[in-house]
Amino acid sequence: VKPRTIFSGIQPTGIPHLGNYLGALSNWVKIQNENPQDRVIFSVVGWHALTLPQNPKELVASRRDMLAVLLAIGIDPKRSILFHQDANAMHTELAWILSCITPTGKLRRMTSWKARLAESRNANDESEVDESMLNAGLLTYPVLQAADILLYRATHVPVGEDQRQHLELSRDIADTFNRTFKGSSRMFPLPTALITPSKRILSLKDPSAKMSKSAADPASRILLTDSAAQIAAKVRAAVTDSITTGVTYDPSARPGTSNLLTILAACVDEDVHDVAARCAGMNHGELKAEVASAVEALVTGPRAEFERIRGDVGYLDQVAQEGAAAAYELSAQTMVQKRPLRSM
Ligand code: ADP
Ligand code: NA
Repeated sequence: VKPRTIFSGIQPTGIPHLGNYLGALSNWVKIQNENPQDRVIFSVVGWHALTLPQNPKELVASRRDMLAVLLAIGIDPKRSILFHQDANAMHTELAWILSCITPTGKLRRMTSWKARLAESRNANDESEVDESMLNAGLLTYPVLQAADILLYRATHVPVGEDQRQHLELSRDIADTFNRTFKGSSRMFPLPTALITPSKRILSLKDPSAKMSKSAADPASRILLTDSAAQIAAKVRAAVTDSITTGVTYDPSARPGTSNLLTILAACVDEDVHDVAARCAGMNHGELKAEVASAVEALVTGPRAEFERIRGDVGYLDQVAQEGAAAAYELSAQTMVQKRPLRSM
């Protein structure tokens, strides 16, 4: 098998919830440990966080917390390059170059942008879209994502279903660059999506929505740092349904109950149908007790590691520094090849 260069990033937006972990981050650890020949690069993408209003002090803390979380769940800086994207200005440099070969029309077709527009629709006139309050970064951040990937000449990018369109854009931009500057530089590889087998975790309070950090009710999500008691309380209060005779996996008719089964199956790494069969004779209370203890068993190690690592500021700084140096070296190789495009 040809060694891969794998890149993925996560924004420094507070402690990850169970959806982030089961849907994305746990897969990073699997990928890291899959094939020692692969070059694996994980980034805390602070530049991206600036598309939303940020309190500088909180952002500094969130960056450090996210680095500590990644170490705590098993990202190993000896096996992976782990670094802060915002410590490397070449991301923004390449993003600028790429933005100048990217038609705005393509960016306006991104569903992420359309969702922003929909949120900003004039309350009095639904047909009137008001862009004036949206910053340009919200339109162009998919180009920054392309730069994140292409800067390391990544061949594979683990993404959720929701990021597939952005990865397509990255391929598109790489292809445009390769055609436009044929001969003047080594070509970018076209990055391939490593689509994570989708484990979409739903809100514990509203199983019609996904578990999200932005939902108003903190009881709708379990954080990786929640205590056993907090986990048990949140699972106990999870919305299920009024069917009292047994447990079945039926996402459309029983979304809350099915979500609990999804969580349980993901925690014990089994097929959800097998888990449903095993739990068929339980009532909701028994299922919830089972789910709470499986979640607790999953997070107890990372939670303790997080507390330990977060207290070790010297270690965190050292990891950040070494990661930055490794990332800088790789990305400088790419940017030197693009030198004809630079003014100096
Ligand atoms: P949030 O929706 O809480 O803002 P992000 O958008 O920052 O989370 O997502 C970070 C990563 O976690 C992405 O790869 C995303 O696909 C994944 N993710 C987020 N929420 C869930 C969820 N409820 N279930 C599964 N994966 C999720
Ligand atoms: Na989000």
